[in-house]
Amino acid sequence: MRTIVITGASDGIGAAAARQLADTDARLILIGRSPEKTQAVAEATGAEYHLADFTRLDEVRRLARVLNESCSRIDVLANNAGGMFSGPVTTPDGFEKTFQVNHLAPYLLTHLLIDRLLDSRAAVVNTSSIGARLFGNIDLDDLNNWQGFTPNKAYGDAKLANILFTKGLHERFHARGLSSVAFHPGNVATNFAADTDSYFQRVYHGVLKRFLISPQQGGARLRHFIDGKPGGTWASGEYYGTPRRIGSTNRQASDPEIVREHWQRSADMLDIGW
Ligand SMILES: NC(=O)c1ccc[n+]([C@@H]2O[C@H](COP(=O)([O-])OP(=O)(O)OC[C@H]3O[C@@H](n4cnc5c(N)ncnc54)[C@H](OP(=O)(O)O)[C@@H]3O)[C@@H](O)[C@H]2O)c1
Repeated sequence: MRTIVITGASDGIGAAAARQLADTDARLILIGRSPEKTQAVAEATGAEYHLADFTRLDEVRRLARVLNESCSRIDVLANNAGGMFSGPVTTPDGFEKTFQVNHLAPYLLTHLLIDRLLDSRAAVVNTSSIGARLFGNIDLDDLNNWQGFTPNKAYGDAKLANILFTKGLHERFHARGLSSVAFHPGNVATNFAADTDSYFQRVYHGVLKRFLISPQQGGARLRHFIDGKPGGTWASGEYYGTPRRIGSTNRQASDPEIVREHWQRSADMLDIGW
């Protein structure tokens, strides 16, 4: 039986994907931040669940311990938790919140699960965004975006970081059986951007909301990558703008030096080695 771990499964795209996977023959493990919301989705889907607030890396480490202890295999890790936030906000770990929640926390979680993922020849599915191309412009000397923070720029950089991480994972681990992919889920009417002063707050929570696709449609795109066959349905190391087409994204994503340097600086910030 496949074991599927989905972060950000308490709401929006992650919760919709979980509901769609509920009737499949898989062990489904949902990760959320809010106890009430996560428990409600878990009960509706018959899934297991665990809690972790990604603004606290000690909670990410605890989550990884629980998963390593309770899972003899992990076939799919869907790093989906994230969003656009106001800022800059310093987390208890000393990093900027948008950068930590969207990138550093899933980077650390994947690192702490890497043995299990390699043993299972797993797929790591990263929910990125078209925002990587529209707003991303990473300064390797200021990954936190302390200088000139705007919610859009910080979000674009963080979703570009998801793509750089996908490529880094592919480069390091694909030869050992692990596959990785990043994708844009569409512009989906979820709780996205609820907590920001960006104009996206008005787009996602005002009259324009009716032009967005439904959470079910966004969830189906995540499910497509979770269920898909690496090397068949999707190609490892790539970013998909739509479910079936490798998308053009930020030009920084095609610079191997930036991929490697971003990986190394993330590891240095967390004081970890792969
Ligand atoms: N909606 C879009 O149009 C769109 C477009 C491109 C990419 N995306 C990406 O899609 C992913 C899912 O977003 P969504 O649209 O489904 O938004 P959502 O409805 O706000 O769901 C976001 C999920 O991430 C969780 N999360 C947020 N902050 C967290 C934290 N500090 N620690 C742990 N979990 C946290 C949320 O938990 P709570 O329930 O506790 O808030 C929720 O489960 C994100 O990575 C987002 O960047 C969305």
